[in-house]
Amino acid sequence: MKEKNCYILGIESSCDDTAAAVINNGIVLSNVVATQKIHEDYGGVVPELASRAHQQNIVPVVEQALRKANIDKKQLSAIAFTRGPGLMGSLLVGTSFSKSLALGLGIPLIDVNHMQAHILAHFIKSESQKIPKFPFIALTISGGHTQIVKVTDYFSMEILGQTIDDAVGEAFDKSAKILGLSYPGGPILDAFAQKGNPKAYTFPKPKVNPMDFSFSGLKTAILYFVEKEVKQNSNFITENMEDICASIQHTIVDYLMDKLKNAVKHTGIKEIAIGGGVSANSGVRKAITEAESKYGWNTYIPKFEYCTDNAAMIAIVGELKYRNNLFANSDVLAAARLKL
Ligand code: KG4
Ligand code: ZN
Repeated sequence: MKEKNCYILGIESSCDDTAAAVINNGIVLSNVVATQKIHEDYGGVVPELASRAHQQNIVPVVEQALRKANIDKKQLSAIAFTRGPGLMGSLLVGTSFSKSLALGLGIPLIDVNHMQAHILAHFIKSESQKIPKFPFIALTISGGHTQIVKVTDYFSMEILGQTIDDAVGEAFDKSAKILGLSYPGGPILDAFAQKGNPKAYTFPKPKVNPMDFSFSGLKTAILYFVEKEVKQNSNFITENMEDICASIQHTIVDYLMDKLKNAVKHTGIKEIAIGGGVSANSGVRKAITEAESKYGWNTYIPKFEYCTDNAAMIAIVGELKYRNNLFANSDVLAAARLKL
């Protein structure tokens, strides 16, 4: 990387978080996220409401990011925004805002793939974080995606496996919903799981290709199991919440680790980096950390604020593209489906 001083504003609006961040030479100066609480009442993200909330949030969020970074917008070198994948109505807000701001300031516009950003978040500079060495395996686990990716260089990535139905975050959220927990249930299920017995109940691990995932069967198995038990004891869930959550989490974490082991066997690569909202899960973090001594892997977990959706990860990709002169045309369009 040539070290030309640069300030990149990153803007993220692919789902239900409106986020803006400023990065200066790989270092995060500000990272602002407005999480839309409105969806909690509906048990999931409502696209129309998300789009409207982005429209309300985007100006104050960007202003706050610039203020916290203590810079004027005239100092910006470029604007990086999430082009996709994501919800079209949400993406459109960030895309059109970024285009007009870049045009108004007369600076370059940089389009960013959200999934690439979850992976490249590992290159945000920080004293406490080590950076993965190429080539590495990235496990991207979020509410929208579950992928195993071979990363050969910043912009050279190959998907080795992915989910054929639900994403792992959805598996957590849907399991939590069956147990009557509120949305998004992943972190709540995690909190109960930490106090329970992971071996109390067993759930099947769906069989698909070695590096692919399937979670819809697990959700059904949990639903049938709970319904059967509740018929015999109407208080079954509340009396056993911790053990049920621990057992579900154990099944999911074990499944993710099985798939990573298959990827290591397939590629011979032992550099493993995780990303996406589910990397915040305590069971995932423990298993990935333990894999260093257990299997001799070098593992990398981003800081919590760079795991869930954020704009610092968009800004770091922006900087990497800026330094490689990879700019977007002014007629670039948001793309709900975008390949890695
Ligand atoms: O990456 P992210 O913020 O947004 C998407 O791009 O989807 O991921 C959100 C997902 C949600 O499904 C949420 O329940 C899950 O990550 N999640 C967790 C935890 N924290 C967030 N799942 C399990 N345990 C957690 N601690
Ligand atoms: Zn995401």
